[in-house]
Amino acid sequence: MEWGMANRMAQLIQPDGHCLFLPVDHGYFQGPTRRLEEPRKTIEPLLPYADAIFITRGVLRSSVDPDNAKPIILRVSGGTSMVGKDLANEGITTSVEEVIRLNVSAMGLSIFVGTDYERESLLNLSKLVDEGEKYGIPVMAVTAVGKELEKRDARYLALSCRIAAELGARVVKTYWCEDFEKVTGGCPVPVVMAGGPQVDTELEVFEFVYDGIQKGAIGVNLGRNVWQNDFPVAMIKALRAVIHENASPKEAQEIFSSEKEKEVR
Ligand code: 5RP
Repeated sequence: MEWGMANRMAQLIQPDGHCLFLPVDHGYFQGPTRRLEEPRKTIEPLLPYADAIFITRGVLRSSVDPDNAKPIILRVSGGTSMVGKDLANEGITTSVEEVIRLNVSAMGLSIFVGTDYERESLLNLSKLVDEGEKYGIPVMAVTAVGKELEKRDARYLALSCRIAAELGARVVKTYWCEDFEKVTGGCPVPVVMAGGPQVDTELEVFEFVYDGIQKGAIGVNLGRNVWQNDFPVAMIKALRAVIHENASPKEAQEIFSSEKEKEVR
């Protein structure tokens, strides 16, 4: 691996081999998502605990100070919305010149395997990888958002992740599922897990993150289950313990409970 690419990957994946990415890109198709209405207010308290943030250029410029940032994974796909015809019909939204200008560590793009736009989204990924590799910028492929999330089983997610890796993604983001080892086992590049819509209890989040890491994920790209929680800082601190200190779900729950006392909303 060339120096630039290796350096950017090292900015994202910590020396212990794990990572906690904080995605705040949801507005690119969901608009002012609950508790991300004012991105700066959501991002600022969480930033110290994230290894990187996943964000669009608009929110990066408007809501993150350049002298106080963490490594950036720039969301560079979009062009559709949740009220439009088909969420899967995304294009590449951001030029590689802009990516370089913003000094980002990686680019992120969604693929939509099994949809009418499977081919387009996979060719978008290939094109982005070609551009990224020229300049030493890794691509994180985002699998299965929107309606595709309904197909959350190991067979579908393993298929999507493997295809993303085959086309050159350096990291793949997917969802946790039963038999998660089948997803990581078939994917020759690092896998991170997203959370999807907020689940009922914090313990459920700690449990699936813990299980996914035991089964080969290197960490998370977890948004709503952090910043839609009533106690987001407590949540991210507890998740850090699972990811970077191998805390069990029960230990994470204890950290969450003691940290939440300190957090005033
Ligand atoms: C959709 C995304 C998000 O970054 C991803 O889904 C992670 O967020 P969450 O944990 O909230 O699902 O790609 O824009």
